[in-house]
Amino acid sequence: MTTLLRGAALGMLMGVLGVVAAPANAAQSTPALPQMGFNNWNSTHCRDEFNEDMIRGIADKFVSLGLKDAGYQYVNIDDCWANWQRDKDGHLQPNPKRFPSGIKALAAYIHSKGLKFGLYSSAGTSTCEPLKENRGFPGGLGHEKDDAKSFASWDVDYLKYDNCNNQKIDAKKRYTAMADALRESGREIFFSMCEWGENKPWLWAGKAPVEAGSWRTTGDITDTYASMLKIFKQNVVLDQYASMGHWNDPDMLEVGNGGMTDVEYQSHFSLWSIMNSPLLIGTDLRKIKPDALKILLNKDVIAVNQDPLGVQGKQVSDAGGIHVIVKPMKDGSHAVAVFNENDAAKDVNVTVADLGLKAGSYTMRDLWAHTDAKGDGSIKVNLAPHATVMYRISE
Ligand code: GLA
Repeated sequence: MTTLLRGAALGMLMGVLGVVAAPANAAQSTPALPQMGFNNWNSTHCRDEFNEDMIRGIADKFVSLGLKDAGYQYVNIDDCWANWQRDKDGHLQPNPKRFPSGIKALAAYIHSKGLKFGLYSSAGTSTCEPLKENRGFPGGLGHEKDDAKSFASWDVDYLKYDNCNNQKIDAKKRYTAMADALRESGREIFFSMCEWGENKPWLWAGKAPVEAGSWRTTGDITDTYASMLKIFKQNVVLDQYASMGHWNDPDMLEVGNGGMTDVEYQSHFSLWSIMNSPLLIGTDLRKIKPDALKILLNKDVIAVNQDPLGVQGKQVSDAGGIHVIVKPMKDGSHAVAVFNENDAAKDVNVTVADLGLKAGSYTMRDLWAHTDAKGDGSIKVNLAPHATVMYRISE
């Protein structure tokens, strides 16, 4: 029995039992926690250094740096992997200079490390990168079934599907066509929609007929504090639309790329984690500095993102540019992030009532210092400019 048939049989059984299953991600039978992994775009864009040697090296680093053990799973490649033209039969083909061994061999290498492999395309006539003659690489619009078959035949586990050159065709129609094609491809392929929030995907992309695993909620991030802050503010208010297997995606991480301070990268990672965002590393792991790696490997913070209850943190206050976000955890505890967006330090006093908790005696775990203390659930702290503190508060 194929996985897809098993999924259908399970669905029927659950229907008989009156259990309502969370809709699975496109071709996936089990709804997943936010995806963790790597994507080359923020680090290389389309530069020549983006090639199979780099991606194999990244997979090696996942293992040797402990990222795989920390939960990072996907090694994904972005725009510019493809050749300028489809082959004579209309199939996508890789750029022979960047990926001379082919995509299937690259996927096999990544799988041999116990990792998963992701690819990129666009729900348009061509992709976004206008390198040559002001046009991108071949897009998936009108080729959905054929391209999904190629992805499955190459053992692809994940598709990031962009929005460029979409010919103004209805977004739901375009993303449904690819979601259907992935479901019919015979392989489980995680569907990551990159529609930039243009058509409020949080209202429709998680449900049938699309059932995407995640959808971008904003335009592209850049490696600056201002960009990170803007995107955070757009995404944090969308918590009610996220659910198990269907996540808001405020774009990939910039941690390690050098445009922000370590304090700002710590905020970036804290906020993305508590917003149940996909955690896709966007820096070249072959060159990462120890401080940035330490941020990405913070298991206390990752545990907030990957908590099995699967609830995106809710912003309970943003008065004076102090953002307080609370997230219920499966074991009954609450994760809290307090972020100071201001350029000046602030004395912050968050009461237990502000957090929506009852007065009492709590264990407060500081998720960046990794220390436990007894407390009454309130948080009193002098927060440096752009800094975030995170706690896990348990009875
Ligand atoms: C768009 C996407 C980015 C990246 C580029 C590639 O801008 O939003 O994440 O994939 O295209 O060209």
